[in-house]
Amino acid sequence: MACAHGLGEDLAREGCFSIDPSSVVFGRGALAELGDHAAGLRRVLLVTDPSLVRHGHVDVAVRSLRAAGVDVVVFDEVAIEPTDASFIGASEAARDGGFDGYVSLGGGSSIDTAKAAALYATYPAPLEAYVNAPLGEGRPVPGPLPPHIACPTTCGTGSECTGIAVFDWVSRHAKTGIASRRLRPSLALVDPTLTATLPPSVVAASGFDVLCHAIESYTARPFSARARSSPATARPMSQGRNPWSDLGSKEALGLSAAHLVRAVTDASDAEAREALSWAALLAGIAFGNAGVHLPHAMSYAVSANARGFRLEGYPDAPLVPHGVSVVLNAPSVFRATASACPERHLDAARALGAETRGAAPTDAGELLAGALSSMMRAARVPVGLSSLGFTPEDAPRLAPLALAQRRLVDNAPVSVSREQMEALFRGALDA
Ligand SMILES: [Fe+2]
Repeated sequence: MACAHGLGEDLAREGCFSIDPSSVVFGRGALAELGDHAAGLRRVLLVTDPSLVRHGHVDVAVRSLRAAGVDVVVFDEVAIEPTDASFIGASEAARDGGFDGYVSLGGGSSIDTAKAAALYATYPAPLEAYVNAPLGEGRPVPGPLPPHIACPTTCGTGSECTGIAVFDWVSRHAKTGIASRRLRPSLALVDPTLTATLPPSVVAASGFDVLCHAIESYTARPFSARARSSPATARPMSQGRNPWSDLGSKEALGLSAAHLVRAVTDASDAEAREALSWAALLAGIAFGNAGVHLPHAMSYAVSANARGFRLEGYPDAPLVPHGVSVVLNAPSVFRATASACPERHLDAARALGAETRGAAPTDAGELLAGALSSMMRAARVPVGLSSLGFTPEDAPRLAPLALAQRRLVDNAPVSVSREQMEALFRGALDA
């Protein structure tokens, strides 16, 4: 479709898009199937965090694996919002264990840590080697990785469907990541019943991550705006919005708009939490094939520089949950990006419940920003970077950190100068 359309028009521009499908098992009780899906593996490293051990989910996974004849070693030292040190720790645990497969059980932190452990145990190198340039060297992953079954327990990151692993590079005061199709788990095993034990604040943070994945993928620059990839196999995962990603983005947007606040305010609302789990998966498939943009680029500067912020339901240490650090920037960004594709911003605002009848294209940004801010208040997440202690004087310091996330900044529907990035941060200070 788009291939034929683009070829005759501009040979310098991209005419095709790529779809990297995810293998998925979704449904209540899916975790008990884990052993069946891992059968054939000899010995796996199960990467998780201590809270999953306490809730008994690790027990279910280990029993299922052992019943299938798979030897399993549990690594339960995943840090929430992982760091360079925790990536290296997991990689060292993986390197000497003789594993021929990996299982991750937890939120995006566990899944991303397992991706890194599999990578560095299989192709040893200094941490910076595979980290995205310009912060790291951006070396390509040399070859295939062992099978990795990702079992998410939050309804948010979509990491089970993406080839991205994010971490906090503490000494550089930056959040960054590793991006390669080879990091994509071989199977996403999604059991929505695992979300029943999540505290409301965790559902809220991960739910807004879902919502931002959906809106950012839907409003990313079109794939046809990029320069043509040469060779064609070099086409990046952040290739821009395309007809495939639109399918997942739109469905995820509608589902999260209808269920996010319900899933936060009532832990017994199994229907809402299941719908949010499905939305997370769809949004993960969408942004894994399109890419997100400015709210995520800015989030890495926010989470690495917030001063002592704590949120109930998270470990007793200063930490800005990923979804919160993203959505805080989103209203400011969408006010600025709406002029590039106002109809898409209006679609998103309508999905979030805004009245868009009679709205002009110039109203799109404000309508979407307003609808999003109302939802944030309803789900009781902070609204505005000032609630994390940021001031207008922080903008010049934060802007270059966000601009360093080139993969994300280049995927925005508008280009952003340093002055404009500073303005986006100032615009995000208050609702
Ligand atoms: Fe995210």
